[in-house]
Amino acid sequence: PVYQATASAPVNIAVIKYWGKRDTKLILPTNSSLSVTLDQDHLRSTTTSRADASFERDQLWLNGKEDEIKPGSRLATCISEMKRLRKEVVEDKNLAEPKISQYNVHIASYNNFPTAAGLASSASGFAALVASLAHLYALPVSPSTLSLIARQGSGSACRSLFGGFVAWQMGSDAAGTDSLAVQVAPQEHWPQMQALICVVSDDKKGTSSTSGMQRTVETSPLLQHRIKYVVPERMERISKAILERDFDTFATITMADSNQFHAVALDTEPPIFYMNDVSRAIIALIVEYNRLSIANGGGYKAAYTYDAGPNAVIYALEENIKEIAQLIVSYFPQKPGEFKDVLGLFGAGAA
Ligand code: DP6
Repeated sequence: PVYQATASAPVNIAVIKYWGKRDTKLILPTNSSLSVTLDQDHLRSTTTSRADASFERDQLWLNGKEDEIKPGSRLATCISEMKRLRKEVVEDKNLAEPKISQYNVHIASYNNFPTAAGLASSASGFAALVASLAHLYALPVSPSTLSLIARQGSGSACRSLFGGFVAWQMGSDAAGTDSLAVQVAPQEHWPQMQALICVVSDDKKGTSSTSGMQRTVETSPLLQHRIKYVVPERMERISKAILERDFDTFATITMADSNQFHAVALDTEPPIFYMNDVSRAIIALIVEYNRLSIANGGGYKAAYTYDAGPNAVIYALEENIKEIAQLIVSYFPQKPGEFKDVLGLFGAGAA
């Protein structure tokens, strides 16, 4: 028989940002985080894995090109953790034959991101890898259990095992057994929520998330304040806002948390800048757009958020998203080296 399985996972965009590790090997965060998993066929990774007794070693191809699996790397850890889980929960209990955890695996992964997007792929990539191996190994385990392993590939990847609105609970165990993802609400709970991705630049970012956040942990006093006094309360409030479909509160907290994440980046020594002039101009536009709506007796209509780069992600309800896309395009005509594109309307949604 052929032992093969395919799975795919979408990108997620955090509204409460993960930034800082208390354990760099196990990838345990210094604070909890919360994200929305994007739906549709854009921005997802699809991974096929196969186990066979004849394979001489584990091998991985990314978009058709072989990627070395270095011993001790995040990739090697995820693969060996999945083999261990297969052995523990299936083979040692004689639930299935044969013992394919002893076979080497061949893994092929594809990202269908528009190449110009310049968006991170590690979250969907590790989530799809773990999901495809879980399928291959017929593991009777929950997405939260799989998130423990995806987390060791890339922290933010653990949140892409679920669709909809997802929290990564930081946990307190030194071994990481309680640092996992849980679903706060499925997409169907708030199907009007949409995301608009504004590609400001597809340049490779200056400082990677991994090294940037480590420097922040080592040098930023503001991060300590954020971890202790800010994030726990925001996690509570934004979860409640999601459950109550309260867009005003969702938007206020999302923008405040993006701002504070970029403030702790600036508070790092030496300072890290992820946003550029276009990013800041988009913030000004969204602020003004919300101000006008509120002045006219309405509420917030859009919430911006930025990760470790200049691209804006704007969350808004379906009824406003077209107007926002038109507004952005009218203020930022696409010029080379300036504003690239409004990538599309992405519903938040299930894997
Ligand atoms: C700004 O998950 O890419 O996007 O765990 O080192 O792989 P590693 O970092 P990564 O960091 C993501 C940082 C962020 C915020 C977020 O997604 O929560």
